[in-house]
Amino acid sequence: MSTKPTLENISSLAKRRGFTYPTSEIYGGLASSYDYGPMGALLLKNIKDLWWQEFIINRDDMYGIDSQILLNPETWVASGHVSSFTDPLVEDKTTHLRYRADHLIKNWLKKQTDPKFEKIVVSDLSTAEMAQLIEQYNITSPDGNPVTPPKDFNILFETAVGAVAGEKSLVYLRGETAQGIFTNFKQVLNSTRARLPFGIGQIGKSFRNEITSGQFLFRQLEFEQAEIEYFFDPNKNDWQELFKKWQTQMMNFVTQTLGVNSDNLRWRRHSDQERSHYSQETYDLDYQFPFGWDELWGIAYRTDFDLKQHIQHSGESLEYIDPETHEKIIPHVIEPAAGIDRFFLMVLADSYQQDKEGRVYLDLKPKLAPYQAAVFPLLKNKPNLTNKATEIYRQLLKKVHTTYDDRGNIGKRYLYQDEIGTPFCITIDFETLENDTLTVRERNTTQQKRIAVSELVPYLQKMVNS
Ligand code: GAP
Repeated sequence: MSTKPTLENISSLAKRRGFTYPTSEIYGGLASSYDYGPMGALLLKNIKDLWWQEFIINRDDMYGIDSQILLNPETWVASGHVSSFTDPLVEDKTTHLRYRADHLIKNWLKKQTDPKFEKIVVSDLSTAEMAQLIEQYNITSPDGNPVTPPKDFNILFETAVGAVAGEKSLVYLRGETAQGIFTNFKQVLNSTRARLPFGIGQIGKSFRNEITSGQFLFRQLEFEQAEIEYFFDPNKNDWQELFKKWQTQMMNFVTQTLGVNSDNLRWRRHSDQERSHYSQETYDLDYQFPFGWDELWGIAYRTDFDLKQHIQHSGESLEYIDPETHEKIIPHVIEPAAGIDRFFLMVLADSYQQDKEGRVYLDLKPKLAPYQAAVFPLLKNKPNLTNKATEIYRQLLKKVHTTYDDRGNIGKRYLYQDEIGTPFCITIDFETLENDTLTVRERNTTQQKRIAVSELVPYLQKMVNS
């Protein structure tokens, strides 16, 4: 396809084909919240399984955990989220709708032609500097109304534990999965054979009370993170070397495992102004989404900031005793922190193709596709064809992810499977009944070939694993 898909192309295919639906849509939905439908749940699980396989199972220096969403609230005081996990918000003085000040300024800058504005890097601006720009240039809301000066708004979601009003206590829905790793650091150390350097990873939901601006799955209130904290002794390992190694592995995962075009990826270093309070170095792996370059995966050198904070607030010793020197140290960490929903959006955007005839298909790697194969009987009302097709489908199901389809004509079935990214369609026809051969049609080229039924499983397994 010569032109890239728009966000509208992707979100409409996602809804039409059961990848994502606006959440609780029968009640009008909820801002920036999406559910995953049958195809989406399969694709999402494949992405998570590949991440888990590559970063937890295939490595002997990694441990996986699954911590709670609700943690002791002191965790978030220690981590700094209660005091500084904020977004700068403004309010439209007429409609009273709220907007992110940085997003308003970014959109306003896109429309400016004077080169003096090119120097402004929005992510480097303080809240006071944003206020100044908004006032100086009369930057308005998307409805063209004046806005209030920006105020820092904490984006941790609050809820309460306890049934009786007076006894309820404040807790937070976690704003990142990382803190569940830090609070379990000592437990993992004591209960496994872990020795530095080693990492702990987990996949799980995080929540942020974000004001969003129609970017589909990119920025949601509830989303899934895949985070790693890689602990090391700064006297024995060079953080820059480890950092580079992790960057290489992140890039490999995206380009090789998920099959994303490297032209749509870039590294972006955070400036001193932009970097989070806990980090000494941060890079974002950006993807070129339909709305522009934006963060897919962050990597930060968090030093010993978090463990030190938790030592101070909990009074517990979270030190590591070197088994050889018996020296006590507080490990440092490198944190590769990804968003699974952003992986999902990237995979949809990157695989979306339209050929010269206008046929739309998802060029998904077979390992990612919701189904790796689809089995069709040529005709629905011929029992000898449907019996044979069902028999082949049931055998195949145990070997590769397979679906069965006998609706409509073959052409429509192909188009449907193309749009959900099924790489191989297998048709059982009258010749199958005569000589035990069938046709395999390849999604991208639409080319078909005849192979023996006995060759089908090895053929598909080879193609899926290649
Ligand atoms: N522990 C560090 C941390 O949470 P982050 O950059 O705020 O860092 C990590 O988040 C990743 O989580 C991001 O790179 C992004 O992929 C994803 N993410 C963050 N906020 C999100 C949101 N509101 N919706 C979807 N994904 C989000």
